[in-house]
Amino acid sequence: MDVYEAIRTRRNIKLFRPDPVERAVIERIVDAGRWAPNHRLTEPWFFTVLTGRAKAELAELRRRIVTEKNAHLGEEESRRRGDNAYREMITPPWIVVVSQRLAEDPETRREDYAAVACAVQNILLAATAEGLGSYWGTGPLTRSPEAKAYLGLPENHDIVGIVFLGYPERIPRPSRKPLSAVSRWMD
Ligand SMILES: Cc1cc2nc3c(=O)[nH]c(=O)nc-3n(C[C@H](O)[C@H](O)[C@H](O)COP(=O)(O)O)c2cc1C
Repeated sequence: MDVYEAIRTRRNIKLFRPDPVERAVIERIVDAGRWAPNHRLTEPWFFTVLTGRAKAELAELRRRIVTEKNAHLGEEESRRRGDNAYREMITPPWIVVVSQRLAEDPETRREDYAAVACAVQNILLAATAEGLGSYWGTGPLTRSPEAKAYLGLPENHDIVGIVFLGYPERIPRPSRKPLSAVSRWMD
């Protein structure tokens, strides 16, 4: 698959099949992350790769955090949302938590965020090229100090994305404005 095809066919996948994916494939995909551009070679990223018990424990934490966040909707609805959040995360065989080491200097921090976003995109495109679906999630889990503690991330790390990887159950239809609506060409 060439890079244009990977860019065009990558979709944010919400529903995965539980089928296993070999660790060697995931290693190739995560390795693509560290080749992202980064100003002054700060290499501000860290990749925490989870499967099995660790993934199940993170999914359990996600269930609790989402249930608590939705407590104002009543017990039944908040439990339903928590259970959905758990199911979403437990089904794909691999999860990659991509975090940013926060620089002291605000300008470096801003550029480092862009670099880490590029690393996430590398991972999503590599997954597409490997025939896998991927999902870039944020939400309350990524801002939770408990999640950081569980993952063993230091205080000065922010979670930029939680990437789910696995075979897609359903591929959504893409939607984008035409190029003419988002560009101006000057000569
Ligand atoms: C920084 C960032 C955070 C995102 N967080 C979420 C998220 O929490 N939940 C979600 O469903 N999608 C999330 N997405 C994915 C977008 O929703 C998705 O890219 C968009 O719907 C377009 O769909 P496509 O990627 O299939 O073209 C995120 C994307 C980015 C760049």
